[in-house]
Amino acid sequence: MANSNCKVTIAIALSFDNYMDERSLAKCVKQISRCYSINRRATDPVQFHITSLDGASLKEMSKNSGYENWDVNLHEKHFTEIFSKEKIVYLTSESDNVIENLKDDYLYIIGGLVDHNSHKGLCHKLAEEKGLSHGRLPISENIDMKTRKVLTIDHVFNVMVNICNGQSWKEALLEILPARKGAQEKLVDDNTITNGDRIADKFAVADEDAAADEDAEADEDAVADEAASADEDAAADEDAAADEDAVC
Ligand SMILES: C[S@@+](CC[C@H](N)C(=O)[O-])C[C@H]1O[C@@H](n2cnc3c(N)ncnc32)[C@H](O)[C@@H]1O
Repeated sequence: MANSNCKVTIAIALSFDNYMDERSLAKCVKQISRCYSINRRATDPVQFHITSLDGASLKEMSKNSGYENWDVNLHEKHFTEIFSKEKIVYLTSESDNVIENLKDDYLYIIGGLVDHNSHKGLCHKLAEEKGLSHGRLPISENIDMKTRKVLTIDHVFNVMVNICNGQSWKEALLEILPARKGAQEKLVDDNTITNGDRIADKFAVADEDAAADEDAEADEDAVADEAASADEDAAADEDAAADEDAVC
């Protein structure tokens, strides 16, 4: 990872232990292990950090045997104690700033929170309180999506890794987002949207919000399934790595 051509840094910021019950924390850690797998497989892995790894998060993480040997920078400290504030961008779906490019040497924070969106806007609020820059992924600018635009930790991570490995936002989003979310190519160019369409869009957004909780529930379950196979992947990766190491 350190020798990767990609110098974009992504940190999953824990410190949300008090906002998650045991089940959600377990899902959060499974999503993180999936991120690790994704990064390992990438031609050019991102510079991957996990911060505020202590307390209940650390206890949950410790269930992944050998996690200390992952090619990931693990920190007990909060990310603001490690990185310069000027180069931090907190990712949050509630931001009005749209991310267009991922910049080398910048730190992109993904909130380590699985909450069924019951703490809607929490990460946005935290970024504002700490005076940090924030941004959202350019989802509506690139694809049409029937459901809410709050993604899981591993989906956000995967999209960003794919961008760093040469995909366009549209390609990455269409590849990563599950078909169940209704992700599809944009049917009309934004410039050709009529006023009527815009009003219809507003209602669609309201529908999305209403469906958010149900969708979140389904999402987390899907992630649990994915994570189960991710665990196997991670274990397989570990075995492969052990083989490689043995050859070396
Ligand atoms: C499951 S979401 C957590 C939702 C939580 N209610 C919040 O306040 O953000 C996990 C993390 O993924 C990132 N994320 C999810 N969707 C995103 C989007 N559309 N744009 C940017 N970041 C996103 C954010 O960093 C978020 O903290």
